[in-house]
Amino acid sequence: MTTLLKRVKTLPAGFVWGGATAAYQVEGATQIAGKGKTMWDDYLKKQGRFAPDPASDFYHLYPEDIELAKLYGLNAIRLSIAWTRIFPRGAGKPNQAGVAYYHRLFKCCLANGLTPYVSLHHFDSPQALFETGDWLNRNNIDKFVAYADFCFKEFSEVKNWFTINELISLAFSQYIQGNFPPNHRFDVTGAIQAQHNELLAHARVVNLFKSKGYSGRIGLIHVLQPIYPYPDNAANRHAAALEDAFMNRFLLDGTFKGAYTAETMALINEILTANHAKLTIEPGDMEILKQAATQNDYFGLNYYQPTFVAAYQGESTNVFNGTGEKGTSAFKFKGVAMHVKNPTVPTTDWDWNIYPKGLYDVLKRVTTEYPNSHTIYITENGLGQKEQTAGVGQLLSDDKRIDFIDQHVAALLKARTEGVNVQGYFVWSLQDQFSWANGYNKRYGLFYVDFATQAREIKKSALWFKALGATLKPNA
Ligand code: NOJ
Repeated sequence: MTTLLKRVKTLPAGFVWGGATAAYQVEGATQIAGKGKTMWDDYLKKQGRFAPDPASDFYHLYPEDIELAKLYGLNAIRLSIAWTRIFPRGAGKPNQAGVAYYHRLFKCCLANGLTPYVSLHHFDSPQALFETGDWLNRNNIDKFVAYADFCFKEFSEVKNWFTINELISLAFSQYIQGNFPPNHRFDVTGAIQAQHNELLAHARVVNLFKSKGYSGRIGLIHVLQPIYPYPDNAANRHAAALEDAFMNRFLLDGTFKGAYTAETMALINEILTANHAKLTIEPGDMEILKQAATQNDYFGLNYYQPTFVAAYQGESTNVFNGTGEKGTSAFKFKGVAMHVKNPTVPTTDWDWNIYPKGLYDVLKRVTTEYPNSHTIYITENGLGQKEQTAGVGQLLSDDKRIDFIDQHVAALLKARTEGVNVQGYFVWSLQDQFSWANGYNKRYGLFYVDFATQAREIKKSALWFKALGATLKPNA
């Protein structure tokens, strides 16, 4: 077994070694047991490209997937609660069938030695609230806080919580790229306001969790995308600083400083001006962020890839075309930057840069610039690619995935030896899942899912994961 191991030979004692999922991407069963609609249901139907059902049918097959996770050496699992299973319209009377489902699910995880790390919001806003403006409507923040409070009280078996997953991906996809509902393109006001409002929602929930004395830990999840100028020159460095402010810094400041620093706001204002956009901060907002900034118990960091950028070249329009599959993307963001290719960096089937040093760089950065991020878990990292079943009795060889994970775990362990307090790694994803923008042909799992039959198949990466998991010793 150990011959499978490459760069990384052992994991640190007590390390959290997990697999990640998200409710809407794995559960399927979108129309049963009283579940309400998310913002995706009607949208996907209308679009007609692919359906969210059956996904990985985790709603029914969770015992099988959890058993696989246990068998293949995992000791933790990332899950999310579908807000609309608990409150079908986002608020009101709880749906007991949904509540019972999550109790069964958490019980099964715990019985199999998998610690659940649970998010309250993973891109799946209730349709009823989406129709009233989603995160742009501040009344919906109150509803989120009430839903969170309900979950903390009800699911006391969960000890590790995350409020919201990847605030920037949601805001960016909804309001800049326009590939998530409501499909706004380059609505910079929407994107920056959604970021601020979601930070506020997170902060209010953290403050509530602490003031009510719930037991356990709480934090949020940001995806960090290091932005490098390419080639390195003064104009491109400024473009990188602008893009970094929009993609990373505004959220990191808000989360861990509880203030948007003057330097950050100078960059953000430059972007807002170029796009005739504005950000509204209401009285009292910053006090709420400030109060939460030192109360996060940990930080969930998702990392996939860096972006290489050049200065925006004086055209009057913004451009994004394509789905991101190889050769289909071009991205220009007015007054900010243009995404460019660094030919020395290898890419995935979706043109994502493969660059493990980026993970090392962001870990060092948050530790230095945001000391309140003190305890870090890598809550997502992995390789999405096109794959086919290997056939009965054959092993699906996903050596590229093993190499990808191995390089990234090596990068995080290097940062750890240099003092970064990173305590765990969750691979995205546990099993193959539904992809928001690509449906069923982008696979990330340790376990292959035949979406027609729902049969699971072991990939070689699962064997590798198990071999490394076997080196784990409990904390002394
Ligand atoms: C981040 C998101 O949290 C997850 O939902 C998504 O599928 C992966 N990235 C891969 O793009």
